[in-house]
Amino acid sequence: PTQLSSRSNDSSFLAKMKSSGRNVIVFYGSQTGTAEEFAGRLAKEATRYGMKGMVADPEESDMTELSRLTEVDNHLAIFCLATYGEGDPTDNAQEFFELLQAGDEQLDGIQYTVFGLGNKTYEHYNATGQYVDKRMAELGAVRMFPLGMGDDDANMEDDFITWKDSMWPKVCEAFGLEAQALDINMRQYKLTVHEEYDPSRLYTGEIARLNSLKIGSQRPPFDTKNPFMAEIKINRELFKGGDRNCMHIELNIDGSRIRYDSGDHVAIYPINNPELVSRLIQLVGEDSNRVITLTNVDEDSSKRHPFPCPCTYLTALSHYVDISAVPRTHVLKELAEYTTDNKEKEQLLLMSGTSDEGKALYQRWVVQDVRNVVHILEDLPSCKPPLDHICELLPRLQARYYSISSSSKLHPNTIHVTANVLCYTTPTGRVNKGVCTTFLHGLKPDNGTKHYVPIFVRKSQFRLPIKPAVPVLMIGPGTGIAPFRGFIQDRNLQKEEGKPVGETVLYFGCRNKSKDFLYEEELTEYSNASLIKLYVAFSRDQEQKVYVTHLLEQNKEEVWRILGKENGHLYVCGDAKSMARDVHALVTKICQSEGDMTQTEAEAYVKKMSNQKRYSSDVWS
Ligand code: 2AM
Repeated sequence: PTQLSSRSNDSSFLAKMKSSGRNVIVFYGSQTGTAEEFAGRLAKEATRYGMKGMVADPEESDMTELSRLTEVDNHLAIFCLATYGEGDPTDNAQEFFELLQAGDEQLDGIQYTVFGLGNKTYEHYNATGQYVDKRMAELGAVRMFPLGMGDDDANMEDDFITWKDSMWPKVCEAFGLEAQALDINMRQYKLTVHEEYDPSRLYTGEIARLNSLKIGSQRPPFDTKNPFMAEIKINRELFKGGDRNCMHIELNIDGSRIRYDSGDHVAIYPINNPELVSRLIQLVGEDSNRVITLTNVDEDSSKRHPFPCPCTYLTALSHYVDISAVPRTHVLKELAEYTTDNKEKEQLLLMSGTSDEGKALYQRWVVQDVRNVVHILEDLPSCKPPLDHICELLPRLQARYYSISSSSKLHPNTIHVTANVLCYTTPTGRVNKGVCTTFLHGLKPDNGTKHYVPIFVRKSQFRLPIKPAVPVLMIGPGTGIAPFRGFIQDRNLQKEEGKPVGETVLYFGCRNKSKDFLYEEELTEYSNASLIKLYVAFSRDQEQKVYVTHLLEQNKEEVWRILGKENGHLYVCGDAKSMARDVHALVTKICQSEGDMTQTEAEAYVKKMSNQKRYSSDVWS
């Protein structure tokens, strides 16, 4: 069987560069795969400009070798770094980040450039990229091209291609190379079709190791590469009316030795919608049961296969590649090769280019219309790419993260999830469905059927105060309630244990009292027993919208008493873009009016709260 992991555990990227004649190395700090994907594109593109590149994971590389990169002629280190959570580097870039912070590295003459991936909705926009760009220079390195920053809230792809298309010519110029991209499309993986195979050797959805998902023979520790198959014990509807769905799911972790705390996240690996999978197979005219292996043509690459091979096309499309996301521009460019109709081909080429017209068309026709690869092939009928090339081009299907909605003290053997089933109609009239929530919605433990899903837990910084006596103010409209359900269960247990527990105030918001008031009975009970103080904003039960922010403003004296006078902790969970932003602005305003501060002082106060972990966010967009 082929192996997914690197063939050697060699962490020396320098030796690899030298032995294979490479001068460009692209490091990535990636949490959800985008930065890694960008890194791959850059390494591949280096060839087009007459250089030779490779991708490296800083976690698996000896980063102290950076200082010796001058041993390679015309060397260039590119960093594609995502900023994650509250301005933090991604897990795999953490150690490298600390190495730079320590400041012992001599980076004189090391040529580099940085592209940061961030989201303007969050407070610490591109903090990691900015820091590395600045810190490298402080340590003596030579910035070959200015820092690029991508905004996931606007158009990351546009930011990226604009940056790289001006970066390469500058680098070429410095290296004395022709600053003209060769228009060659290179396949990164070679296809092998297995006419004969041993069925027991086929991957069927495992993330890394063959047979690692077999129920009953799984082995801890469980993590991203070795997820636990958790049985869905409960999957019930939380909404009482309306046409939307919200699931309360309980995952069995009994016997798994998985531990979690309130505030942590659980990751779930989904399976793509079977209808979408078969439509794609049908559109390109392939056999879903064909057994294939894709092998990297670059023998020095640490990534032998794009996903576990050998497997059937059906497995690849169901478990390994993301067929629901809108394709990035380089995918369109390669699709153009397989398009016979000139008009359709030109449209694809236009959208993958950097002209204003092309960018606008990509934004409208792909992003706004939310066309995934299936929709594109449907609407450009002369485009007939081979399925193996699609499998090579599309990014890996990623696990989805959910804020855990239970307390491990109350529920040590289950993990609860509270999630809306995502479903919407696009401008082209198609119904798009959220990959993981739609998958989960179909897994109800009715009439004796057992369903298992691959999961692992990711630790978070979202924590109750260490001292239970500290009062807490929690703001979680919609499914933002999730971590607070765990927090409340924790506080209640502490009270039962006789500990002095401070005030627990919850702001919840939903559309209608009769439809989407999540956990109404539980929360009302806690409230009636004076275990929590509950404020609920029903936005659509009256003419004028009422939001949690309106209630907070009405209660500003109490808010300031808890936060300002009693040094309480503030927690926000839910929508990042509008709710969390509005809350942040409002809290600043309340500090100003109630705490008698100037705008600047109030801003500094709120910043200090967040540094002291008295203002924490668990938000998504
Ligand atoms: P709406 O959908 O009626 O606008 C959970 O999603 C609840 O949060 C809904 O009642 C929603 O109201 C509300 N909401 C939307 N935007 C908000 C904001 N900026 N601040 C607080 N609540 C908001």
